[in-house]
Amino acid sequence: MYRPLDPPSRILLGPGPSDCHPKTLLAQAIPVIGHMDPAFVAIMNEVAELLREVYGTQNKLTLPMSATGSAGMETVTVNLIEPGDNVIVCVNGLFGERWVDVATRAGANVTVVEAPWGEAIDPADVEAAIKQGSFKAVCLVYAETSTGVRQPLEDIAKIAHDHGALFVTDCVTAIGGIPIEADKVGIDAAYAGTQKCLSAPPGLAPVTFNQRALDIIMNRKTKVQSWYLDLTMIAQYWGGTKRAYHHTAPISNVFGLHQALGLIHEEGLENVFLRHATLGKALQKGLEAMGLKLLVKNPEHRLPNLTTFLIPEGIDDATVRSQLLSQYGIEIGGGLGSLSGKIWRIGLMGHSCRARNVIMVLGALETILTELGYKCDKGASLAAAQEVLAEK
Ligand SMILES: Cc1ncc(COP(=O)(O)O)c(C=O)c1O
Repeated sequence: MYRPLDPPSRILLGPGPSDCHPKTLLAQAIPVIGHMDPAFVAIMNEVAELLREVYGTQNKLTLPMSATGSAGMETVTVNLIEPGDNVIVCVNGLFGERWVDVATRAGANVTVVEAPWGEAIDPADVEAAIKQGSFKAVCLVYAETSTGVRQPLEDIAKIAHDHGALFVTDCVTAIGGIPIEADKVGIDAAYAGTQKCLSAPPGLAPVTFNQRALDIIMNRKTKVQSWYLDLTMIAQYWGGTKRAYHHTAPISNVFGLHQALGLIHEEGLENVFLRHATLGKALQKGLEAMGLKLLVKNPEHRLPNLTTFLIPEGIDDATVRSQLLSQYGIEIGGGLGSLSGKIWRIGLMGHSCRARNVIMVLGALETILTELGYKCDKGASLAAAQEVLAEK
């Protein structure tokens, strides 16, 4: 049986994917050309250059891996880590937990440094752990999508380097939404995804490695355990003197990423970050004015592009999210892991990060919650959000 595709139209305000810019979708409809075509090679070079801009790096080895963000996590891990290496993985949410699993499968001896979900990792805890042994890398999630925590990076980067370890970060939710400044911060390797603040469809994982990390990869004692993610080969295709075939690049996704990064470049990185910061603040003020409690207590550790807040007592998670979807076409996220059923997550990422979406989601949420018996000051959330939007 064949049924023509007819997915509904949605406004994506969850933790990702976010709405794609129409120009990005159009770019993905450009007829495919060959992955060794000189015209495609020129486009690859431009994508790498635009990625360096959002990562804040000069790293030569900067490229999109042909798979989603989790493959980015696997890429940094399996290329930098050899079986038996000691690594520290910081865990204050689901993606830190995933990284422990990925590193363990790659044969690493993993030391976990933890913080409660909703709080940032304390650099003092990393320092205490790193003094206990000799570690090859410290792995840290910059923007923890399961909790909405923005992790300060500088202190932990310094601790890692002072002890001879690489500093490796997850930038999946960060990229294109908050500054990364990889070179300034001292990030040795990082990975990201295209489907959040870059506003391209899911399917690529931009990664970046500095010279120190690259030297470690090129001087491994053992082969990279994954053939598909082996950068010693992929780097040849993306930047080598001879463009050797490794696997067929996902041409259309690369076209889309080129356009998505081009839109960010045209708007200007500073403006893009300001848009996310302002609209995130407007949403958070609006939710608080509705009487809702933000999960992340320390305002400095709140992501602007992903807001997490507690589901009020007596209100059913699934009922509200399904009404948002069916009545307004708005998708927001529920909680993951131990926060399942306890929080909601609203993403304002990339093309989804627009003033009209802030107003719409606050209005829709207030209407639905009020109908379900939740008591709040009518219209207060919109007024609080508008106040932030009016600030110049
Ligand atoms: C912080 C973080 N890391 C890793 C991932 C995994 O990315 P993907 O789902 O694209 O494989 C995600 C996805 O939401 C994420 O938010």
